[in-house]
Amino acid sequence: MNEMVERILELKKEKDVVILAHYYVTGDIQDIADYVGDSYLLSKKAAEASEKVILFCGVEFMGESAKILSPDKTVLLPDLEADCPMAHMVTPEDIRKLKKECPDAAVVCYINSTAETKAWADVCVTSSNAERVVAAMPQREIYFVPDSNLGRHIAEKLPEKTFYFHNGFCPTHARISEALVRKAKEDHPGAKVLMHPECIPDALALADYIGSTSGIIDFPGKDGGDSYIIATEEGVMHQMKKQYPDKAFYMVDDLCICENMKKNTLEKILHTLETLDNTMEMDEELRVQASRSLKKMHELAQ
Ligand code: 13P
Ligand code: SF4
Repeated sequence: MNEMVERILELKKEKDVVILAHYYVTGDIQDIADYVGDSYLLSKKAAEASEKVILFCGVEFMGESAKILSPDKTVLLPDLEADCPMAHMVTPEDIRKLKKECPDAAVVCYINSTAETKAWADVCVTSSNAERVVAAMPQREIYFVPDSNLGRHIAEKLPEKTFYFHNGFCPTHARISEALVRKAKEDHPGAKVLMHPECIPDALALADYIGSTSGIIDFPGKDGGDSYIIATEEGVMHQMKKQYPDKAFYMVDDLCICENMKKNTLEKILHTLETLDNTMEMDEELRVQASRSLKKMHELAQ
């Protein structure tokens, strides 16, 4: 074990810290985390944490959601500038406007959103629970924000509901075009294509499996195949190679990297644990309002 990792583990124990890491951070961080997971698992772990401090290696909305659900904890981010661009693609103004036009619609908000948006939403979802949560909502009309690609994917599965979409998207997954997927299939004949629902519909039409990061990572374990094309952020490759050393994995494209997730580094984690700087702070009224949609998700996703 190198010196930096040793020091991180010592400080973690000394300061009663739990380290949560999303699958899109680099492998060296995934290896020192207490829990590595998709957005849903990490949000559950943050809500249940018994430690005094949560160090969230992900992007801002993840740390913010941890603070909303665990207000008494100190929530730290290794880099406060690691932010998800999609989270800012919808504004409370967009939601107020739609609510006026369609007062009966439930506002369903992807967890990749700001606390302000969550405060206006009826319920939050992640990619692993969106179908179940939306199906359980009593409203027939659904306004899905901000990710139009995940929204359209869920709408296909729930034809009994009427959907309105916002035009948000993930810039990292939007790089995966239909042409790139076709090319990867040509280069690796027989490999199954595993895709994240944040990809665009034309690309998703070529998938053998569509699911959250944990769904993608679990798929080869349940499937008899021996080679896979991975169409999501490259961080998942770390777990896949570790869990299935005898299977082959090919990234659909080298450009599928989330620059914001990659702002997390071991150096910044060490600095954050030494200083306990980079704390997530939030207005209490906003926190209480935003907590309703997140708690509703946890209730319906069980
Ligand atoms: P999941 O890990 O929930 O699939 O989310 C992917 C993502 O883009 C997080 O920002
Ligand atoms: Fe946001 Fe996309 Fe990065 Fe996830 S991968 S944090 S959705 S930009």
